[in-house]
Amino acid sequence: MDTPNTSSNDEALELTGEAFEEYLQRQENKSLLRILTCGSVDDGKSTLIGRLLYDTKLIFEDQLAALERDSKRHGTVGEDIDFALLVDGLEAEREQGITIDVAYRFFTTDRRKFIVADTPGHEQYTRNMATGASNSDVAVLLVDARNGIATQTRRHAFIVSLLGIRHVVLAVNKIDLVNFDEAVFKKICKDFRAFADSFDFDSIVEIPISARFGDNVMTRSERTPWYTGSALLDHLESVEVENDLAASPFRMFVQWVNRPNLDFRGFSGTIASGRIRPGDEVVAALSGRKSRVKRLVTMDGDLIEAGPGDAITVELEDEIDISRGEMLAGADARPDVSDQFAAHLIWMSDAPLYPGRPYLIKQGTRTVTATITDIKHKIDVNNFDHLAAKTLDLNEIAFANLSLSEPIAFDPYEVNRDTGSFVLIDRLTNATVAAGLVWFGLRRATNIHWQALDLDKSARGIHKGQKPTILWFTGLSGSGKSTIANMVEKRLHAMGRHTYVLDGDNVRHGLNRDLGFTDADRVENIRRVAEVAKLFVDAGEIVLVSFISPFRSERRMARDIVEEGEFIEVYVDTPIEVCRERDPKGLYKKADEGKIKNFTGIDSPYEPPETAELHLDTTKADPAELAEVIIAELKARGVLL
Ligand code: ADX
Repeated sequence: MDTPNTSSNDEALELTGEAFEEYLQRQENKSLLRILTCGSVDDGKSTLIGRLLYDTKLIFEDQLAALERDSKRHGTVGEDIDFALLVDGLEAEREQGITIDVAYRFFTTDRRKFIVADTPGHEQYTRNMATGASNSDVAVLLVDARNGIATQTRRHAFIVSLLGIRHVVLAVNKIDLVNFDEAVFKKICKDFRAFADSFDFDSIVEIPISARFGDNVMTRSERTPWYTGSALLDHLESVEVENDLAASPFRMFVQWVNRPNLDFRGFSGTIASGRIRPGDEVVAALSGRKSRVKRLVTMDGDLIEAGPGDAITVELEDEIDISRGEMLAGADARPDVSDQFAAHLIWMSDAPLYPGRPYLIKQGTRTVTATITDIKHKIDVNNFDHLAAKTLDLNEIAFANLSLSEPIAFDPYEVNRDTGSFVLIDRLTNATVAAGLVWFGLRRATNIHWQALDLDKSARGIHKGQKPTILWFTGLSGSGKSTIANMVEKRLHAMGRHTYVLDGDNVRHGLNRDLGFTDADRVENIRRVAEVAKLFVDAGEIVLVSFISPFRSERRMARDIVEEGEFIEVYVDTPIEVCRERDPKGLYKKADEGKIKNFTGIDSPYEPPETAELHLDTTKADPAELAEVIIAELKARGVLL
């Protein structure tokens, strides 16, 4: 050591300090491997993770003592330590994913650092797996040697391949419970290869293990002399994974615009891929504006270069207008920009996916509205067949087209997992309902432009003495929507106004004759009529829409596609007993006899409005009086000029 002027005592201290520094440095320089574990608790997943943590000595002493105590108390494995208890005991320390439970655990060996994404393994928790999987390098698929390949294994292998994880380990666990029988192991490997070979993984390694006793986990077991491959940890320490994020083109989503004073404006975010230096030319992907990097600012001073994972503030040479959600990209390798694309969706919600229903799409730091325009096919995870589908249920996977309210900048998922993935969010509950992987933009979106017209809706409306408006009547069948709408229209007509009534029964004879009464068809029914109503507004009309329109989401969509103030929701509130009694079309009778399926209020839901502009109680007033209430409202709102 080069420390000539220090006493031996100091030297010892300094040596310790340097050794410590060196130790830290070694940790820093070790490569990081991200592992996704897939399988259920029954397959021994918790036990395996507990075993890895235990054998790499990363369990703190006090946790160990508690573990030994608990194992004795719960006694599921006799006198041994129950490693599953350890992992389950750490449950409280779970990090929360977006809305989903994924626990990340860290351990380290002399050769590598590891992060294990641990996700609940029950079949319906496919979604949790998808969340933990992004960015994983290796997937460890656990199977119970006694049961062999299960549906869940196929599902997991498929999702793992879909998510672009190139390396898999098939850990055939509980090999002790099948007497370390080579034939059992071979059979499971063969069954796995039968489908996994077609997934194009870069490596598939099968290992017979006993997580409980440690066979082939840290070191090769003498109890499986027929197995000549590596122990699990050995393999994880040496498997070569390509991490080319730094070599990919520069991408950074702008998280916020940092403007502490008039002299400085920077764009802050975390680099998703690529490297960047002052002087590099960058482009704001959505607007197409270009500039050069002036400075890369961080809390610890300016950088001369930044790469993937770095949180930076980019100052540009030119004043260009950029807001949150924009993507900064290398000017010579731009991402795609489109408002329509094809993607794989992993549906994560108990409420089904309906094409036509608006969701929020969040990609990077950008959030816009999206609808699924077309489910191309869904995928049967048992045989990977493509099936036709009108909706998607929890955990189903599909290939679909999406249409967005505004363009986003993206790369195909294959090329960039960060800029090619997104989540869909329910607009009313704010829950994450899907994970998505973009494949390609749909060019047709870019070739249709708005035709500019000289006359606008307000000019057309003024000519008719009115402000174009949608009066949206919602309520049960037989509630009186059409009766009241009809009266309002007659009154407006007598006043010389221009109106049109879009009535569910009538529109279903023509434009919507291909639609029935499933939830999915009702969503599409309302989407189309909302678009038609919007055209009527554009034509300057007062349009009266009389549809059951049972779902809040679609009424909200209808409200949102026109301008503020152009949509008046009228809730025609009639209790179902009263509708049933009136039964103007004899439909309740038929529905009660089971002759009509999916009848609203009987075996199909109705979600009453929470914030309708008008709430009409038809048991307290007759239709003519209620029509007057509406006319008064139109006058009060300045609809009648
Ligand atoms: S919506 O739910 O999709 O908005 P819409 O208003 O178009 O329904 O059509 C409802 C009308 O279709 C009812 O007034 C009724 O006359 C008729 N109908 C036939 N079958 C059903 C059904 N299963 N549920 C509701 N209405 C039905």
